[in-house]
Amino acid sequence: MSKIKNIGILTSGGDSPGMNAAIRAVVRASLYHNLKITGVLRGYEGLIQADFIPMDGKSVANIIQRGGTILKTARCDAFKTKEGRVLAHKNLVDSEIDALVVIGGDGTFTGADIFSKEFDFPIIGLPGTIDNDLVGTDFTIGYDTAINTVVNAVDKIRDTAESHDRLFIVEVMGRDSGLIALRSGIGVGAEAILIPEAKVGVPELMHRIETGRKDKASKIIIVAEGDEAGGAYVIGETLKEKFPKYDIRVSVLGHIQRGGSPSCMDRVLASRLGVAALEGLLEGKTDVMAGLVNKEIVFTPFSQTIKHIDAEKITPSWLKLVEILSM
Ligand code: F6P
Repeated sequence: MSKIKNIGILTSGGDSPGMNAAIRAVVRASLYHNLKITGVLRGYEGLIQADFIPMDGKSVANIIQRGGTILKTARCDAFKTKEGRVLAHKNLVDSEIDALVVIGGDGTFTGADIFSKEFDFPIIGLPGTIDNDLVGTDFTIGYDTAINTVVNAVDKIRDTAESHDRLFIVEVMGRDSGLIALRSGIGVGAEAILIPEAKVGVPELMHRIETGRKDKASKIIIVAEGDEAGGAYVIGETLKEKFPKYDIRVSVLGHIQRGGSPSCMDRVLASRLGVAALEGLLEGKTDVMAGLVNKEIVFTPFSQTIKHIDAEKITPSWLKLVEILSM
């Protein structure tokens, strides 16, 4: 029998579509198991400020389809300090919250890992980030929606690029990872994809464009924001200087990638992982993230989830695929 009676839930770091579906799943699973569930507002900031709200079945009604997070989110520097974490722990004890579910990405799990070890406090994580840059899950909650947002936007850019015979450089999100760029780039039929993991510089990029088919009216280059080449505007300026024959335009998609109604894939992923996380906590699991690998629920220690580059996710065969398809 688990001693856990009251579970706190929070979202932290950059939001992602499907976080609300995950909150809903954790709340409903808690109620199913006759547990109290408490919402923590604005991530670790709310732990430090004791900004807690009781939750029930109704508080998560009609949110599965909504982007963003009803619990709000923040990137919290105070939680990186010992004093901040001591205060957070005191607030949890005072409110009789005896376990946490945290939904977020690498920053969230770094904090959760330290906190759960420091205070021997049960915590389970859910992968909520559009970047998909966590080890221990094939897909993170929000990634599918984000790449579909990119595909919808770039399809529109392709229409105008084709009409004007233009080369477009489109920057997508992914501070430390090119996974959004890679998949959406394949999805839009990009002529080239620049990602931090592949180290294709501007000279090689131009060689590919120059030696590619001459009868293409438009060219789309997808750049991950974390790419070493310096972002879409820098690349655009370099290309304009070196290759004045191209009519070049730049588009930075930005935060539209983080918003919007979650796709069905993200809703179902969030729902499955939310229930699994809650049940994992009751079985005594802690300091781990619930993820989905090869269709199975797996629990991976926080410390192993945050490696940034998952060799399984960007293999040479993916890069070869990009090259073949851009012919
Ligand atoms: O971690 C998700 C993410 O969207 C990254 O892709 C991006 O670099 C970052 O968040 C942007 O963060 P912020 O909204 O704080 O500027």
